[in-house]
Amino acid sequence: MTMPMSPETRAALLDGLRTCLEAVHVRTDPDSAQHYGRDWTRLYTPNPLAVVLPGSIEQVQNLVRYACEQRLALVPSGGRTGLSGAAVACQGEVVVSMERMNRILDFDPTDRSVTCQAGVITESLQNFAREQGLYYPVDFAARGSSHIGGNIATNAGGIKVVRYGLTRDWVTGLKVVTGSGELLDLNRGLIKNASGYDLRHLFIGSEGTLGIIVEATLKLTRPLCEPAVMVLGVPDLDGIMALYGAFRSALELSAFEFFSERALRHVLRKGLQRPFDTETPYYVLLEFENPEGRHTDQALELFEHAAEQGWLADGVISQSETQARELWRLREDISESIAEHQPYKNDISVRISRVPALLTEIDALLGREYPDFEVLWYGHIGDGNLHINILKPADLDTATFAHTCGAVSEQLFAALQRHGGSISAEHGVGLTKKPYLHYTRDTTEIAYLRAIKQVFDPHGILNPGKIFD
Ligand code: MLT
Ligand code: ZN
Repeated sequence: MTMPMSPETRAALLDGLRTCLEAVHVRTDPDSAQHYGRDWTRLYTPNPLAVVLPGSIEQVQNLVRYACEQRLALVPSGGRTGLSGAAVACQGEVVVSMERMNRILDFDPTDRSVTCQAGVITESLQNFAREQGLYYPVDFAARGSSHIGGNIATNAGGIKVVRYGLTRDWVTGLKVVTGSGELLDLNRGLIKNASGYDLRHLFIGSEGTLGIIVEATLKLTRPLCEPAVMVLGVPDLDGIMALYGAFRSALELSAFEFFSERALRHVLRKGLQRPFDTETPYYVLLEFENPEGRHTDQALELFEHAAEQGWLADGVISQSETQARELWRLREDISESIAEHQPYKNDISVRISRVPALLTEIDALLGREYPDFEVLWYGHIGDGNLHINILKPADLDTATFAHTCGAVSEQLFAALQRHGGSISAEHGVGLTKKPYLHYTRDTTEIAYLRAIKQVFDPHGILNPGKIFD
């Protein structure tokens, strides 16, 4: 599929694509290729054959059937906010953007569920839920551009997982076009359904390799009631998990995040204010419901206790919704604030009980192996999910940098394997983590993954080369 193509073949394929949907939605201009051919990874040069924007399930099916006939690789594409190259088209593939399929189709107040097309933007769904007096709790900084279909294809996590779980926990129905062009209507919004294998869950997190998600039914819940946010300054890594233990046993946390001083400095450079004067190597941001300030005293007692134990050195609690939002930005804006440094991203996870031991081990490893690079830590530590970002020095070329970081990744992932962790907690495998999949999935399991791929995508046209070869 990556063979050089004659101009005649190319023209014939494009003509064929134009029979699957309106010709105007088959784009070949360089701007579209650049825009739709990549995600936020920025490591790969986009090179799609074309970008197509179907407007209906039928058009998606036409495209898949045509791709089967021609053995044409398709890259399903959402908001392309991914960080592992899963939505990249750099091998002459056809990008199938779900952007035009962006309608909310149905809402049922009794079921508290909403059905929408795959191209609905996360924030639009969140706003829609709010208008109904409800809440869609899967949330993360890319909410303004990411698509629901992409969230499902990557089983998106984000900042509320400690309380609400992953995207998987909110999907009650899925419509998917398989690699043969059939339409599957999976689970149809049911809460209980014990009628055999639940194929819905195979497509969640499949990164576009098994089918193209075209519609989803999602549960909604009641909104958080007056959430309060605390940011705590933490002197050492041990303090982070000690704080987690203390606060989660007394309050129902809806978030427990951490970031390092080094990471904080990047958002401060973008104009945000320090949360308090004391500088500490690490910070925790936690959130809990606090209707009418009912839990403030309890939170302050915990704060005092933690200070006595030496787990924290300073802290602040939000006094208003606006202040809560500002505190959140200290954590949420990190990713964007470091993007210009082309960070090498690690997105790892272990069971919560293993976090302290893993942190100690990788702190030593990274200090030893990266003395010259700036290493930033942040992440959803309450879920056992740590983001380690290594910033590229300006004078180092991308290839050497990626190679150096890749070598350290091998050691990092070996440590992770000893702790039973995962090489990707939420960003996915895509292209960037493909070489390391075996640290998390053993050979037998990978063979089953391949066998499943063969069932749903017998011609290998759906996002080939992603997750595994
Ligand atoms: C985050 O937690 O900020 C996102 O996963 C993005 C990132 O890791 O850079
Ligand atoms: Zn994250």
